[in-house]
Amino acid sequence: MKQAALELWNQRNERVREAGGRDRQKKQREQGKLTARERVELLLDPGTFLEVDRQVTHRCTDFGMAEQKILGDGVIVGFGEIDGRKVAIFSQDFTVFGGSLSSAHASKICKIMDLALKAGVPVIGMNDSGGARIQEGVESLGGYAEIFWRNTQASGVIPQISMIMGPCAGGAVYSPAITDFVAMVDQSSFMFVTGPDVIKTVTHEEVSKEDLGGATAHAEKSGVSHFTFSSEHSAIHSLRKLVSFLPSNNCDPAPRGFTQDTADRETSGIDKILPESSHQPYDMRELILETVDDRDFFEVQSQYAQNIVVGFARLDGMTVGVVGNQPAHLAGCLDINASTKAARFVRFCDAFQIPLVTFVDVPGFLPGVAQEYGGIIRHGAKLLYAYAEATVPKLTVITRKAYGGAYDVMSSKHVRADFNFAYPQAEIAVMGAEGAVNILYREEIKKAESQGADALAKKRVELTETYRKTFAHPYKAAELGYIDEVILPAQTRQRLIQGLKFLETKRESRPSRRHGNIPL
Ligand code: HXC
Repeated sequence: MKQAALELWNQRNERVREAGGRDRQKKQREQGKLTARERVELLLDPGTFLEVDRQVTHRCTDFGMAEQKILGDGVIVGFGEIDGRKVAIFSQDFTVFGGSLSSAHASKICKIMDLALKAGVPVIGMNDSGGARIQEGVESLGGYAEIFWRNTQASGVIPQISMIMGPCAGGAVYSPAITDFVAMVDQSSFMFVTGPDVIKTVTHEEVSKEDLGGATAHAEKSGVSHFTFSSEHSAIHSLRKLVSFLPSNNCDPAPRGFTQDTADRETSGIDKILPESSHQPYDMRELILETVDDRDFFEVQSQYAQNIVVGFARLDGMTVGVVGNQPAHLAGCLDINASTKAARFVRFCDAFQIPLVTFVDVPGFLPGVAQEYGGIIRHGAKLLYAYAEATVPKLTVITRKAYGGAYDVMSSKHVRADFNFAYPQAEIAVMGAEGAVNILYREEIKKAESQGADALAKKRVELTETYRKTFAHPYKAAELGYIDEVILPAQTRQRLIQGLKFLETKRESRPSRRHGNIPL
């Protein structure tokens, strides 16, 4: 090779590495942030990164931009491996025009998204950007829309994950919002459609950037984000783990995990977790941990709608999506947020062929004017729809209460679950005994009331007991075949794994249609 050609090659690659300059990289590090390239290196298996479009520059000439060209134009894109499995990635570089999105920057992202879709590999985006490149105007907006369009086409075909590692504001938020998972880093990332200044002008509300769109706000209040991490290092480490649970696309199976946890291990610990009284709370997470391989449960949206728990785990090495009502929070009632949280998770699992394991302990839908006005009818229907539409293997364990409409919704036989188990102490009924007695025995209760408080209390106990004996057990449902088997808690793991193995070859289809009309 000619010396001059080699020198130019070296020079240009040095410019690529420098990106926005050492000073801006230093500033980035001082803020506790990694550089875009360091993030890529940490995320991928060493030596696997195949970068493309390092030499791309923007094509803008307005506002003196013709003299300001930086190789790569603020985003690093390419392909690599995580635990030996292929992924496509982009990582926005805040040191180059604040990571802002020019049309060239957008084209780079679109290029790897297109190839990822063809190759059937997940796309991971690391977002750190001041939004639309102001100097480019509508070209930049078009660039965003091209990404949004691809996000939508790729939805349900390849997993898409967004890591927010800096600013993500304005319409830019809608790409992460369409992706399957959004992760945020505490204190250094934020997302909002309109920032604090605009809000102050329009609504006169005063709010800080962090309170409005920081990691905590989106993890606890809005439900926009799925994971919060204390540092970029832990975010990237956990993201690698998330990927390990997922298939590369909707046609491939999820990779099988290795475990020494035996398939027939007795889950006797569950007996100690379940309280004697059906009114006492317990932590559903404990029950899940006791059941799954190596007590390893990767929870999704752990801080949002805590009355339902969702996340990934493995059973005998097979990835499963776990959904569980959480009696330790709002008694495990289904409300608006829990319904939408679980519905989205169920739909993700169904899209990617991940079997669903549902642990049910639900006293019903949360009563209240706010819930009704907020549209619990519409939102609760989403979860019902998601379970009914899902054709992946569905296995259900009723651990305690399964009341009313919530019984139907929570992966019941009637929405076509494949295996439905219940513990001997399960209570499957239209409603709880106390509520049922008030309606069934209104006259008798009135009569007892007229005889004084003691008589009333005695009557209530007697009637409640009668109702409990009739309905508060799983055997009525089992007699009807709605429950396939009443199992002991110690048999939970064993039975679920047997069921999953049997269902490995499950095939089920739904009527042909353009698409259903889930109540959004
Ligand atoms: C061009 C930008 C930019 C942008 C930042 N920069 N945002 N350049 N277009 N959108 C440049 C800055 O000029 C600066 O250049 C460098 O990036 C770092 O920015 P700072 O402001 O110094 O950083 P910081 O103080 O950390 O503040 C970060 C920030 C702020 C909060 C993101 O830069 C900011 O408010 N930027 C504008 C955000 C914005 O309004 N974007 C458009 C939103 S509308 P130098 O040369 O000084 O280093 C939008 C619509 C998308 O995005 C619609 C999609 C449908």
